[in-house]
Amino acid sequence: MEYRFPKDFLWGAATSSYQVEGNNYNDWVEWEHVNSARLAAEAAKRHANAHMRIPEYILNNYPNPLQPENYISGRVCDHYNRFKEDFDIAKQIGHNAHRFSIEWSRVEPEEGKFDEKEIEHYQQVIAALCERGLEPFVTLWHWTVPIWFRDKGGWLNKDAPKYFERYVTIISRSLNYRHIKFWITINEPNVFASNSFLKGVWPPRYKNIFKYFKVLKNLAKAHKKSYEIIKKENPTAQVGISKNNIYFENIPFADYFWNKYFLNKIKSQQDFIGLNYYFHSRLFGNRNEDVTDMGWEIYPEGIYYVLRGLKKYNLPIYVTENGLADIKDEKRGKFIKDHLKWIHKVISESVDVRGYLYWSLLDNFEWDKGFWPRFGLVEIDYETLERKIRPSAYEYAKICKSNILEI
Ligand code: FCB
Repeated sequence: MEYRFPKDFLWGAATSSYQVEGNNYNDWVEWEHVNSARLAAEAAKRHANAHMRIPEYILNNYPNPLQPENYISGRVCDHYNRFKEDFDIAKQIGHNAHRFSIEWSRVEPEEGKFDEKEIEHYQQVIAALCERGLEPFVTLWHWTVPIWFRDKGGWLNKDAPKYFERYVTIISRSLNYRHIKFWITINEPNVFASNSFLKGVWPPRYKNIFKYFKVLKNLAKAHKKSYEIIKKENPTAQVGISKNNIYFENIPFADYFWNKYFLNKIKSQQDFIGLNYYFHSRLFGNRNEDVTDMGWEIYPEGIYYVLRGLKKYNLPIYVTENGLADIKDEKRGKFIKDHLKWIHKVISESVDVRGYLYWSLLDNFEWDKGFWPRFGLVEIDYETLERKIRPSAYEYAKICKSNILEI
């Protein structure tokens, strides 16, 4: 079968600053140093349990979940210095779009003091993308914050949206000469808020539902203000967020609170919806017939339902993340194709999906899980930093270059 995608469909991959750049200094970096030993010990405890044993093929790699250095991001992929080489690869494997994020802590390391050299760095990143025919999707905030902002209480501070607004004003002014079309203000507001303020697993590790809603409220406010700022700078810019939506099978209240609540709050300040799809959830437990290295269920059909659920917003949709940890690269090619098949189906039913960005271009630092989950189309050897294009990246390249999925 041949599935042809709409003309001008965007194909590419996504990254985020902290997860690939290396040598950042933000709230997460400080947190890693305090928590790496604990995280390694917790992994060892899991491993000691026969039902939760970590497979040998993961432990044979460097760094692995039992080592504290697995949880210290350090130089990561050194993408900060190698972005041109990495974008050459993206171009070579057929991409025509790329999502990346700006590291707030780099451009505003001290409150109100902006670092011109770092702003220039991101100007160069954008220039490098444009030179290679890669349409930039600029994410303004992908979870990490400057130390000074954290010290003020971070997103719990009532003035947090104002601080963010100042940063967005400077960035949109300094980058807009490139007429950047796609801006993502905020990545996955509810994944951030629930892990950091409700479940207590990410910094600052609160477990408090009031704080959770307060943070969501501030994030929505920050988004709306940013929307106005960017549109004022460039009225043709397309501004949205990346939203993690889950396919809740017959769980309407969860569908409302997780998938719709935040989008409804910012309804009139969005030009597109960025969808990040990873999860499916059934009321009485998932079947988990096929899982990733992280144990996440592989459920391609879910993307169809989630996209259908977004139709009511009547906006263009870009899949801004979808991917899996698969160190052996055994499942990735099929994973991408299966998801694309369902995306194609939903497009044929007139849901306006205009692009697909795989997570991720490179292996990278997966938050509190650290290095071991391998999401990349491109493998990173963390000892030598050598890049190796995985076979699945070539399978995906065929689709990107032809605009046709063949199964
Ligand atoms: C998403 C995040 C992204 C990455 C993937 C695996 O929730 O936005 O940074 O960690 O999950």
